[in-house]
Amino acid sequence: MRKKIIAGNWKMFKDLVEANDFFKQLIEKLPDTEAEVMIAPSFTNLWHSFQITRDYPIEIIAQNMHEENLGAYTGEVSAEMLKSVGVQRVILGHSERRMFFGECDEQLNLKVECAVNNEMNFIFCVGEEMEDRNSNNHFKVIKRQLDIGLFEMYPEDWKHAVIAYEPVWAIGTGETARPEQAQEMHHFIRKTIADVYGNEIAENVSILYGGSVKPDNAKQLFQQPDIDGALVGGASLKVSSFIKIIQAI
Ligand code: 13P
Repeated sequence: MRKKIIAGNWKMFKDLVEANDFFKQLIEKLPDTEAEVMIAPSFTNLWHSFQITRDYPIEIIAQNMHEENLGAYTGEVSAEMLKSVGVQRVILGHSERRMFFGECDEQLNLKVECAVNNEMNFIFCVGEEMEDRNSNNHFKVIKRQLDIGLFEMYPEDWKHAVIAYEPVWAIGTGETARPEQAQEMHHFIRKTIADVYGNEIAENVSILYGGSVKPDNAKQLFQQPDIDGALVGGASLKVSSFIKIIQAI
């Protein structure tokens, strides 16, 4: 059975005080849910966030990590460092990392390998740009991202993986993929995994949708059979909207 997941990606928002306020409120108002609830704060907030949420069903995850275990990589953070502050899952390949920090599929392949070697769970992001969709290349783009980034994993490594489909044109734009558009791509992703690894692995991997998920569109997205939850940006910054999205699943 695949898991339902609502994960908030805070990007470069919220300092320590703001994070602390958010978690105090979230803990108080957290609805009963079957879904796993995760938040990815900035590196500087990980330890404190982990400490205040550790007795509650809220998982603190990281937004990125380096592909080497250690070394002279100024400004970078390793899997071991994340684990030492209680983090057991990391977002890899977010489109903002690909776009603004030049992360390519080959580098993401190394990050996936590093995660697996460190028993670190991860949310692997894929997504096409609007011009890929307009030129009808969107399936090809997603297939390439999966092929190079993920498909060198051994079958047993899939237990660490969650996928997030985040069309770049829907991130932070207020424009969401229509539920049937998102479903079509989620189904394609699952089928592509099944073709390489078989049905059992494909049926058990959670595939989240991300891109302007809000309280008013979440329910329709979650009704789609291949959408197992959401990776939420903007709407995860406010406790009230984040809770409504949790309730929608
Ligand atoms: P928005 O929900 O703000 O569009 O961001 C989505 C996202 O990038 C989550 O990782």
